[in-house]
Amino acid sequence: MEPFTILPHIEDLDQESRYLVHKARDAASHAYAPYSKFQVGAAVMLRDGSVVTGTNQENAAYPSGMCAERVALYAAVAAHPDAIVSKIAIVAKRKGGKEIIPATACGACRQVMLEIEIKQKHPIEVVMQNHEHQWVKANSAASLLPFSFTRMHLEGGH
Ligand code: THU
Repeated sequence: MEPFTILPHIEDLDQESRYLVHKARDAASHAYAPYSKFQVGAAVMLRDGSVVTGTNQENAAYPSGMCAERVALYAAVAAHPDAIVSKIAIVAKRKGGKEIIPATACGACRQVMLEIEIKQKHPIEVVMQNHEHQWVKANSAASLLPFSFTRMHLEGGH
């Protein structure tokens, strides 16, 4: 199977992914991003179909802020520690704007997705828009993070 697929239009996504993109888009409107004005929403779907959303949370002490993806993922696993995270959709827009703009999940967020994926022994699909405004659907966080550092390294595996 291909590690990810690229789809030109939102209508090309499967229905569940489109639903999750809409949830992420709604969430993005409520992001707290007074400094960057770059509003990000993430929607996490659990295997039972329930959805947990997150938005980026900025702070006057800049490094204290947090990306939307990690806000959503940590909220999801904190509230549902035994649930399986099956998918995450990520959407960004400028403050006051309607148009979806690219946000492809930073390395730290990919690392957090990977940790959850390994813990739950189930891949997480990642849906986001690339810099050509196409939709990327990755089959797993691992496919977005080659040569990753994982618990295996700490435990002396290879
Ligand atoms: N941000 C996210 O929330 N997710 C991403 O995938 C990229 C960046 C946030 C962090 C910061 O609040 C703002 O966007 C600008 O970097």
